Amino acid sequence: MSPSNALRREDPAAPALPSQSFDVRPLPGPVGAEIIGLDLSHELNAADFARVHQAHLDHHLLVFRDQRITPQQHVDFSRRFGPLMIHVLHQFHLAGHPEILIVSNILEDGKPIGLGDAGKYWHSDISYKPLPSLGSLLHAQELPSEGGDTLFANMHLAYDTLPVALRNAIDGKQAVHSYLAQYGQLQKEGNWRPNLSAQQIAQVQEVVHPVVRTHPENGKRALFVSEGFTTRLVNVPEDESRALLAELFAHSVRPEHIYRHRWQPQDLVFWDNRSLIHLAGGTPDHLRRKLYRTTIEGDVPF
Ligand code: OGA
Ligand code: MN
Repeated sequence: MSPSNALRREDPAAPALPSQSFDVRPLPGPVGAEIIGLDLSHELNAADFARVHQAHLDHHLLVFRDQRITPQQHVDFSRRFGPLMIHVLHQFHLAGHPEILIVSNILEDGKPIGLGDAGKYWHSDISYKPLPSLGSLLHAQELPSEGGDTLFANMHLAYDTLPVALRNAIDGKQAVHSYLAQYGQLQKEGNWRPNLSAQQIAQVQEVVHPVVRTHPENGKRALFVSEGFTTRLVNVPEDESRALLAELFAHSVRPEHIYRHRWQPQDLVFWDNRSLIHLAGGTPDHLRRKLYRTTIEGDVPF
């Protein structure tokens, strides 16, 4: 067992952590960079961590290739960015690691081992909480031979390119986010969504966030609505709200805003939920797919 980050940094007798030499290679397109040559099974020193952090702010999504890390190492690295969130669907936590949500279409003894329809609608993770997620880290465990891509849309770009009339129409507006926005629909479409207990429902009361948020670290504005969790605009008549949201959703995911991630074995993808929304591209039913997700808590959107 390696000592926790906190202990290690406070221990003056601990040897200095060596630097790793790694490349940050921007991906073509509006989102993302690959990190080549970094090994996250070793604790990063402060300088390497700062480089990774800056690359994440610059590119909104990092693909760490070839990460042979344990669930505990995945959790430890994620925690350096903030506290981790525990998903309301505790059925799908990894045993011994409640901070890890299993995203998988695999059935064992007829029972789902993970959330099989995660990301079926465009969304920003946990936007339905008062403190939505800063970012999520998804680590490939088992990949299908076809399909299973994940798509990401750049919501800074979406905001910057909004038609002026639409930008004016949403100026200063707030929107309601609800975990239950698509839940009934997902229950009808698949077998992945258990009925929620009263206690689970109490944990996912709807919340209100600004339609346009300012990223707390890069200072840029981003659209912060999605078909997955946003149900209506506050103080806007129902039909107008529906029409505006439909326009915002369609604009957000224009092809020029999107990066499609084609998973490679052992990829760890770390995206910024304040800058991006994402979508599961879908996996053929007969092919197995399993990934582990940690989710970092962010702050109150403004
Ligand atoms: C998620 C998610 C999409 C995918 O894990 O948060 O939305 O492609 N996953 O698995
Ligand atoms: Mn997601």
